Amino acid sequence: MAGEASRTTYEEYKETADWLLAQTSTRPQLAVICGSGLGGLTDLLSNRTEIPYEKIPRFPQSTVPGHEGKLVFGELSGKQCVFMKGRFHFYEGYPINKVTFPVRIFHLMGVKSLIVTNASGGLNEKFRVGDLMVIKDHINLPGFAGLNPLVGSNEERFGPRFPCMSDAYDQKYRQLASDSALELGYQDFFREGVYCMLTGPSYETVAECHMLKVLGADAVGMSTVPEVIIARHSGIRVFGISLITNQVVTDYSSQTKVNHQTVLRVAQERAQALQTLVAKVVEKME
Ligand code: HPA
Repeated sequence: MAGEASRTTYEEYKETADWLLAQTSTRPQLAVICGSGLGGLTDLLSNRTEIPYEKIPRFPQSTVPGHEGKLVFGELSGKQCVFMKGRFHFYEGYPINKVTFPVRIFHLMGVKSLIVTNASGGLNEKFRVGDLMVIKDHINLPGFAGLNPLVGSNEERFGPRFPCMSDAYDQKYRQLASDSALELGYQDFFREGVYCMLTGPSYETVAECHMLKVLGADAVGMSTVPEVIIARHSGIRVFGISLITNQVVTDYSSQTKVNHQTVLRVAQERAQALQTLVAKVVEKME
């Protein structure tokens, strides 16, 4: 069966997790995945240990500009954490279970909460470039075509065959984020919405953007959803935040063209605010 050939066994995941636990005294409860241009989030950590992906047994390598490749262990607001500086995308050519490989490693290392960040295009007309959108829900569009990281035989030691996704984005964490945004005076650029994943790497056509809006999506990107599905499968609580780096083009007469340099520039401009918000949410997590 397609996908089964590249399957990683439970024992193989365990070997990588045990290898990592032997490299650091940190015992992470919280994992953070840094999206495009958002690797600066690791600056929040104290007592850091950095491990480049190429040193980690079975870890994929990051190939996208703006995505470094290392795990950073450390402490934030009294919580032991592991940050992924550089994530993996399906469009890089990895099998979908390689994209999500780190999340299972986090679970086996004891992680109970995951924060996912990403850069995305705004579909909602009320959104502005630079807005921070807390992810309320997602649409797994590749999943409609059979691309779900849980396809294949199920490993019960990770989770059930048919995991629930109606509670994918933890309501309590979303509330903490909205309280934090208020305290920080971020109301003007703080949003909540639905994130839709497409595999990319080509950006969306005008007709595709029209379709995504009709489907109820507020933002569109090329990541996050596979990791969230695998996290929820193992019972990890998820908080997701999307930085709106561009407005998608929905008008055939528009001269605007999205490109990766703009995405990275806006991500850098808003990185500080995103970092401050994430730090505040972590502080409030029990
Ligand atoms: N589309 C898809 N992915 C993205 C975009 C976009 O407009 N912006 C940043 N990531």
